[in-house]
Amino acid sequence: MSAVFNFTFVPWFRSVAPYIHMHRGKTFVVGVCGEAIAAGKLQHLAQDLALIQSMGVRIVLVHGFRPQVNEQLKAKGHTAKYSHGMRITDEVALDCAQEAAGQLRYEIEAAFSQGLPNTPMAGATVRVLSGNFITARPVGIVDGVDFQHSGLVRKVDVAGINRTLDMGAMVLLSPFGFSPTGEAFNLTMEEVATSVAMALHADKLIFVGEVPGIRMDPSQPESDDNPIDTELPLAAAEKLLAALPGATLPTDTAFYLQHCVKACKGGVERSHIIPFAVDGALLLEVYVHDGIGTMVVDEKLEELREATADDVGGILQLIEPFEKDGTLVKRDRTEIERDIGNYTIVEHDGVIFACAALYPYPEAKTAEMAALTVSPESQGQGDGEKVLKRIEQRAKSMGLDSIFVLTTRTMHWFIKRGFQNVDPDWLPEARKRKYNWDRKSQVLVKKL
Ligand SMILES: CC(C)(COP(=O)(O)OP(=O)(O)OC[C@H]1O[C@@H](n2cnc3c(N)ncnc32)[C@H](O)[C@@H]1OP(=O)(O)O)[C@@H](O)C(=O)NCCC(=O)NCCS
Repeated sequence: MSAVFNFTFVPWFRSVAPYIHMHRGKTFVVGVCGEAIAAGKLQHLAQDLALIQSMGVRIVLVHGFRPQVNEQLKAKGHTAKYSHGMRITDEVALDCAQEAAGQLRYEIEAAFSQGLPNTPMAGATVRVLSGNFITARPVGIVDGVDFQHSGLVRKVDVAGINRTLDMGAMVLLSPFGFSPTGEAFNLTMEEVATSVAMALHADKLIFVGEVPGIRMDPSQPESDDNPIDTELPLAAAEKLLAALPGATLPTDTAFYLQHCVKACKGGVERSHIIPFAVDGALLLEVYVHDGIGTMVVDEKLEELREATADDVGGILQLIEPFEKDGTLVKRDRTEIERDIGNYTIVEHDGVIFACAALYPYPEAKTAEMAALTVSPESQGQGDGEKVLKRIEQRAKSMGLDSIFVLTTRTMHWFIKRGFQNVDPDWLPEARKRKYNWDRKSQVLVKKL
């Protein structure tokens, strides 16, 4: 084995460790669209899910079957009928849906049963259990359209799913539900996944879909200047959703987003939209810092907010000990009062636990993040990261390309979060003039 391999593999594996620890024992609901399976992605998805499960994550897998049902309908010479973005399930469509679901379950169970030596599934023993966990009700007649056997989720058997997960099995759900009269209803994968995630209070809901995520500017096409927005706070996601036209196709921006927003409002802290087209997208989203798709996150807005004049005292109290020991540069009350609009804070029950300020240099398309502080008793709980993310969003919304920090003791924290060391000469002219060469602060930059 080459020495280079050791130097790349070991740090790489260790960098993933915090995420492995963090997700152990958590519940993820993963909704995979039927298109992913039709595109031949099932084997790799199964391998990745088996790996994630082996690292202690409890997984509920919900599969879609839109193209498979349409294929069956076509074979029977029947056309697929939709209204309000939902299938109208007549007798023939119900038959097709049952056939497609049966076939897909069979294929999925087979994919999780692989175990050939020298493959990622070698040694994996994934038990996949399906069942009648969903009670459904008919959609009924909407605006004069009879949806017949199309249904909506009425109830999720939370105890039953939890017992199955406790046994160490993966729960596999098809978009079907049954009514107390024994009737079968065709549901949508997205609604089943969302309802199950909410009912279970899952830690994550992940849609593996046709779209790469939500773009920074969803009205504009893909480009280097319009990348995927990796993190959308719930409030911003709701605002975006309200501005978008209603979704009818899975490729519409609002299609998965509406379910992510619903799940987040229903108590699922993080909902993700990731593309099946990227091999390993699940691993990239779950075990890499920035992920690959879009994550809608409920960050408890009452806690994380922009500061007001009333917060000056609390901020002073928070940063003072760090100014005394030299970690932070001294700022007096007047300076903080003047710049209070630049501060973001985390407040809980009237006490400020974290803060940071953003000083833009628009001429250089960058901004300084200053005075990042988390109170000693609440460090290590992610507040620092939360504030950083918010500062990044504020900078992005100002159209800036990067943020930078000057630090003497906290380089590693920033480097781990995507900052890179640069020469002080890199600083915008106006900031360079104020740079204290005696303090020898390191300059770290993060591209947005
Ligand atoms: C740096 C700071 C803001 C991080 O806040 P936090 O809420 O504790 O950060 P998070 O919970 O998001 O991250 C915690 C991780 O950062 C690590 N960390 C904390 N301080 C660090 C430092 N100085 N250097 C490197 N890593 C550090 C923790 O060990 C923990 O690592 P782990 O996730 O591997 O366990 C906080 O420690 C702080 O206020 N420090 C004093 C002030 C300061 O140095 N500010 C920066 C001025 S430029």
